[in-house]
Formats: sequence, C-alpha cells, structure tokens
Amino acid sequence: MKDLDEVKERIEQIRGEINYHNYRYYVLASPEISDAEYDELMKELKQLEEQYPQFLTPESPTQRVGVAPVEAFGVVEHPLPLLSLGNAFSQEELLAWYTRTLRLTGEKQFDFTCEHKIDGLAVALTYINGQLVAGATRGDGLRGEDITRNLRTIRSIPLSVFKGAPNRFEVRGEVFLPKAGFTKLNRERTEEGLPPFANPRNAAAGSVRQLDPHITAKRPLDIYIYMLGYAEGKATPPTHWETMEYLNFLGFKVNPNNSLLSNIEQVEEYYHSWVEKRESLPYEADGIVVKINQLDLQERLGNIGHEPRWATAYKFPAIQGTTRLKEIKISVGRTGTLNPYAVLEPVSVGGVTIKQAALHNENDIRRKDIREGDWVYIQRAGEVIPEVIGPIKSKRSGQEKEFSLLEKIFNSNKQRPACPACGADVIKPEGEVMYYCSNAACPAQVQQRLEHFVSRGGMDIRGIGESQSSMLLREGLVKDVADLYYLKQKKEQLLKLERMAEKSVINMLNAIDDSKKTPLPRVIFALGIRNIGEEMAEVLAKEFPSLDELANASIEKLMSIPTVGPKIADSIVAFFRQEENKKIIQRLKDAGVNPKGQKAKPEELPLAEMEFVITGRLETLTRQEAEARIKALGGSAVTNITKKTTYLVVGTDPGLKLTRAQALGTQQITEEGFLSLLEQTT
Ligand code: IVH
Repeated sequence: MKDLDEVKERIEQIRGEINYHNYRYYVLASPEISDAEYDELMKELKQLEEQYPQFLTPESPTQRVGVAPVEAFGVVEHPLPLLSLGNAFSQEELLAWYTRTLRLTGEKQFDFTCEHKIDGLAVALTYINGQLVAGATRGDGLRGEDITRNLRTIRSIPLSVFKGAPNRFEVRGEVFLPKAGFTKLNRERTEEGLPPFANPRNAAAGSVRQLDPHITAKRPLDIYIYMLGYAEGKATPPTHWETMEYLNFLGFKVNPNNSLLSNIEQVEEYYHSWVEKRESLPYEADGIVVKINQLDLQERLGNIGHEPRWATAYKFPAIQGTTRLKEIKISVGRTGTLNPYAVLEPVSVGGVTIKQAALHNENDIRRKDIREGDWVYIQRAGEVIPEVIGPIKSKRSGQEKEFSLLEKIFNSNKQRPACPACGADVIKPEGEVMYYCSNAACPAQVQQRLEHFVSRGGMDIRGIGESQSSMLLREGLVKDVADLYYLKQKKEQLLKLERMAEKSVINMLNAIDDSKKTPLPRVIFALGIRNIGEEMAEVLAKEFPSLDELANASIEKLMSIPTVGPKIADSIVAFFRQEENKKIIQRLKDAGVNPKGQKAKPEELPLAEMEFVITGRLETLTRQEAEARIKALGGSAVTNITKKTTYLVVGTDPGLKLTRAQALGTQQITEEGFLSLLEQTT
C-alpha cells in the first residue's frame, strides 16, 4: 500500500488542478486542457477517493456538478436537482455499469434508449398552463441562473405548448450551437480580435449566458430535449422512450437519432455506428447517453451522489492528438488578412493525417502562449479545419520560439514588414487585430478571391477549383474575376494548358456561361466584400435590387437596415468606391452578370395595409426593433387602437390598450405569435 501522506498529497494536487481547469473552463470559457485529459484527472481523483474514503471532503470537485451561478442573472432553485452522468470510456466500463444495474435490480434484461451526448449547455424549462415561464442553466445542480429571456429567443424552444399538457412541468435538454454556426461565429470573433471559443459548448454557453438577449438572438442556437424533469396534474408515460414521444407531440424538439434498443449488444452497435459517423453530424457529440427505458426501474436504481445509476455516458474516443508545431507560417486571405497557421509534424488524428492547423490571429497565439517548436494539442471537428488548442508546457525544452507576426514578415531585403506573397506594405487598421496586405492586386489575394467567387455559395462554377484558379492566374489568362467571362475568346490558349482537353475546356466555358444566371444574393456574396457573408448578402439583395443600387448606396441608407451596422456599411461603401472594383463590376455587367432582385412594391409586401399597436414590454425585441421590422415588411406601427388596427401585440404588463382592444374586438397576438408572423413573412 502506498504511503498515506503521498496519497493525500496526490489527491490535493489533483483537486488543485481540477479547480484551476474548472475556472478556465466555466468562468473564462478558455480551457487549457482537452476534455479527455480533464476526464482522466477526474477519474484518478474519484478512484483515489473511493480507495481512501478518509480523504473525501465535501469540497472535493467530485462532489459538485458545476459551478455556482453568476450573480448578474437571477438565481433559480431547481425543484428537482439536475444531475450529471457517470462515464464509460471502454466496452469493459460499459459492461461493468450494465452488470451492476442488473445485479441491483435483479432483472435479466433491460430496454435501453441511446442518444447522442451533445456538447452544449444543459437547461431546464418550466411550463405552467402551457406557457414557458422559466428557463435556467444547471448551475451547481441545485441552483441555476435564470436565463429565461435569452432562451425565449431560441426558435426551437416552444413558448407555449399544446393545451392538453400537464398544468405544470419541467423539461430538460441541451442547447447547442451547430458546427456551422460555431465555425462562423469563431471566424467573426477572430476577425474582430476577440478570442475564439474553444469548442461548441463554450460557444453555446457564452451565447446563452449573455446579459443582453439580443446577442443570444443573433446566434443560431438550437435545442434537443432529452428528459422530463417532473410533471403535475396529469399522468405521463411509464417509459423514457414514450415520454420523449409525448414531449415531441407537445411541440418539443427531440433528436431523431435517438434509438430504443433491447439489449446491450445493440447499445454497442449503436455506439460503434456513431463513432464512424459522428463527423457527419451537424452538431458536436462527445459520446452517447445510455438510459434504462423503464421509469420505475430508474426510480428503483436512484442516484449515487450527483449521478443516476440508471444512465451513463459512453464516451467517443477523442478526436484530439498531440504533435510538434514545427513552424508558424503566414497565408494571405481574400481580403488581404495575414493569417498565421501552424505547420505540424504530421500526425494521425481519428484516422486523418494532419499537417497544418489554424491559429486564428496573433493575439490568440500570444494568449495561449503557443511557440514555434512547442508540443501542442490539436483538435479536429467535422469538416472544420484542424485547430491548435494549446501548448504542452511541460514538454518544453527551452528552445521554443515566441511568435511575432511582424518579425515573421520582416523583409530583410526591404528593411520593413512586407506581405509574404507580394512584398507590398502591411497595414493594421486602427482597432483591428489583423494585419493586412495593402496591395489589392496581390496574387495571393487575387487567387483567394477567385476561389471564393467560383465557390458553391457564390457563382458555383464547377470545374474551377484551387488548381485551375492558380493555373489560370499563373498563365495570365485571368487577372480578376471578371476575366472569367472573357475566357471564351482565349479558347486556343486554354487548350494548350496542362490537363485541359477539348471536353474539359468546353465544360468549363459552359459552366462559366451558366453562372451568369446566378441570383443577386449569391453574386453579392461572391464579390467577396469584407464582412459580407451569405446571410448579409440576402439582406442586401432584398433592399437593393441590383448591383448598381447597392454600389450607389450611402452609409446612411445602408445603416437604416436593421441588421446593418457601421462596420458592414463601411465595408460596402469602401468596396464600391475602389476604382479596381468599379471596373470589375462594369465588366461583369457587360458580360451579362447583372442579376436583378425583386424589390417588392409596397402594396406587395407581406404586411401591406396592416396596422400594429404594441402594448407592454417585449422580451426579445425593443419597441424600435419591432416597429422597424413591421415597417420593413410594409406594415405600419401606430400608438392608438382604432377600428383600423389589425393586431394588438401584447407583451408583458400590458397597458390600457388591451382593455380598449377588448372593447373594440381587435385581434390580439402574443409576442410569440408576432415573431412567428414576422418569420413566416420573411
Ligand atoms: S441525460 C440524469 N441526455 O450531459 C441524466 N444528458 O454529463 C442527465 N447531455 O448535464 C442528463 N446530451 O448537459 C442527457 N441526450 C442526453 C444528453 C445529455 C447531452 C449533457 C447534459 C448533462 C450532461 C451530463
């Protein structure tokens, strides 16, 4: 047996480390170690405490589920604690859990439900008389934060449910940010100089735990409900599976990938099939949750500490790895940004060899203290570019080199920092973290712009990928995106190019020709204007029905669109002001790329001739925003109820207008009804 003092020391050391990592994770939302390593620490601590119970204290991190709620939000007491889950990391551990439950219940076999363990944020939603009245985080399991206002902005959370629902009940589920939304959010954050979120869970938590619900509302959050907490006033089904079907019927979103299985072998199969397919999922899942289906058995099994005995999380192997970061290099983005990336000692992570990984921006590299020569953790998620999470400081030799972007691009020839692709001056606009190449004709930028222009979300010109773009530029056949539409005249030269047989040339020219029919929003996106993504391009196309009208828009006009801020307005005006871009647009139009959007005539707008009055406080919109949205859709927003009023929108604490509306028989809608009306009409 080990020396007891040594054991005690080790226990205290691990507790210290876990507390530190909890703080990094929950408070700073910036973890330093991977989930797998955290789980390892927790596992070792649990084992030691089981073996040496004399050292178990109530303060041990194994004894609590999460962290105490943040004061800024109201605190909600959970009528029924929110539990966490025990883990199984291998088939043996799953079987150990299974045999224990068999032994404890005396059963010979169970039905199981298997679900994905989505990497998000646990929430509890309370409904009274069919209305959502409260939404809370898990917090420490007993008390959570009141985030009702924020949760109300998530479209997949019903604000009211089918009338036949129990009088009072609570459902629990996982709020998450789908992978695509996560990547987009991080890209925007790095461009703005903010630290990117380490994983989708941090991003979901950061989005929901916002004091301003408008920020939450802008994030594409989603939810899957995974259990019923409690229900009063009505009998609910006897199994978990049927309960989920029932909740789905009431209007809750339940993961369609859940399965009802009748033995542990099938659980293994479910697990393995999803280990294979997990990358194709639109959300991040770190394992499966196995639950015993019969609720009376669940009750009999009960909990041990904060963990139910009737469920366990069977974790997927981590798609993380470690390797050496050989060098940090700089690539030039489409808008001229100088993007640092890591050149790695090739390593296989989850069956894919990784040689390079994203590093966001210089601030982020400094914050994480990533140095050239470091051993680093890397992570891969779905289609997303692999990412360096952080250094393994304990493996440092002292030879590692701190990173300085300016030093990297310092051109000894010219005695100043220069674009690594074209040698032009480098600029750093005030208030931005990114450095830019100042030369719009920089070949690296042109290549990126060309690739963006022909990409799927843009003009979608099949047959022109990375290698064709670079060949066309190298051979001087194309100097900017408009040149593509004049390639027809250079057919002979095209035919002389490597791997360009007659057929490929004809296909390419046809694809270019077809792209002239691309609708306006995609053409706007394809132009590659800084800060204009696909969504914003849609918004702009609705407001400005042609490229010319967009090109002539003033900052003020642009800013009058509810979702357009000064940064976006500036980018647009700056883009169309550039002589180079003016010429490109003219040549695109001459070649026949001149799509017309349909700006709806006022009388054709969906809310035309409708008059709205708002009373009380709205939870997800300010008055001004609500009025702007009504007007944008052709309706009018007035202050007094008359016979002409189409709808009274009733918020919290409505005023006298409600009484007047009742007297006049004016139709009333709730905020939810109003939002879905806006939704349906956009
Ligand atoms: S059941 C008592 N089902 O995992 C059972 N949890 O470590 C507790 N999670 O706090 C939850 N997907 O945030 C359950 N399908 C799922 C889940 C799930 C994700 C999270 C949840 C919970 C944590 C437990």
